[in-house]
Amino acid sequence: MTSQGQMAAEAWRRADYANAWVERDDRIDLLELPRAIAAAVVHHDRPQSAVVVDIASGPGTFLAAFLDELPEARGIWQDASDSMQAHARERLGRFGDRVDFKPGDMTDLAGCDIPSGVDVILTSRAAHHLDREGLHAFYAEAASLLLPGGWLVNLDHVGPADVWDKRLRAVRPRFAANAGTEKPHHHNYPLTSVEDHLDGFRLAGITDVEIVWRAFYTCLFMGRKGS
Ligand SMILES: C[S@@+](CC[C@H](N)C(=O)[O-])C[C@H]1O[C@@H](n2cnc3c(N)ncnc32)[C@H](O)[C@@H]1O
Repeated sequence: MTSQGQMAAEAWRRADYANAWVERDDRIDLLELPRAIAAAVVHHDRPQSAVVVDIASGPGTFLAAFLDELPEARGIWQDASDSMQAHARERLGRFGDRVDFKPGDMTDLAGCDIPSGVDVILTSRAAHHLDREGLHAFYAEAASLLLPGGWLVNLDHVGPADVWDKRLRAVRPRFAANAGTEKPHHHNYPLTSVEDHLDGFRLAGITDVEIVWRAFYTCLFMGRKGS
């Protein structure tokens, strides 16, 4: 595991941390809408999608949204935490053998036994653990595994400019009751920006990219690899 991957994964490998995060996250799910939008956009563009990979998938919620939307597709779960794998095996159990589990480091996808030539690579709320360089390396490696016309999707937290950070931080508790109550885990501060993400897609060769949804610090980035 790389040192950046190791830092990112450290808290999540503790069962108490992973269990408390999943329990808290399940209480308020503001991200159901962007997950559903992402799955619908991919279904509309690429209904024949056969393989969907979710990197740093945690309990597998994003992957489940795609497998529901694309009943013919197989899923690949990837994460560095055994505790998260236990949650995912329970949550994704209803999909039976449609899901393969590939534990490993998101900063070294080549070491995770993920096949190349997949239709969709997802990730959510994990790539913000990486710095700009690490984020760009991740996008480049993920894009290289996609088929022509495949989709790279990231639902992730971004760092706005200072003045917007203050404005958003002031009002967010009115809309997200749990805002700011999460126990700390490794972040790369300042968080990578919208521009860092868009640069990363483009440098990875994905120029057809859009921010499909945004609320406060969380953006849904979707990019389609050229055919
Ligand atoms: C905030 S959780 C998000 C889980 C899931 N993607 C979601 O949005 O519900 C962050 C996830 O990143 C995973 N993670 C952290 N570092 C990692 C690494 N180096 N490689 C793979 N997964 C990692 C953690 O185990 C955890 O499941």
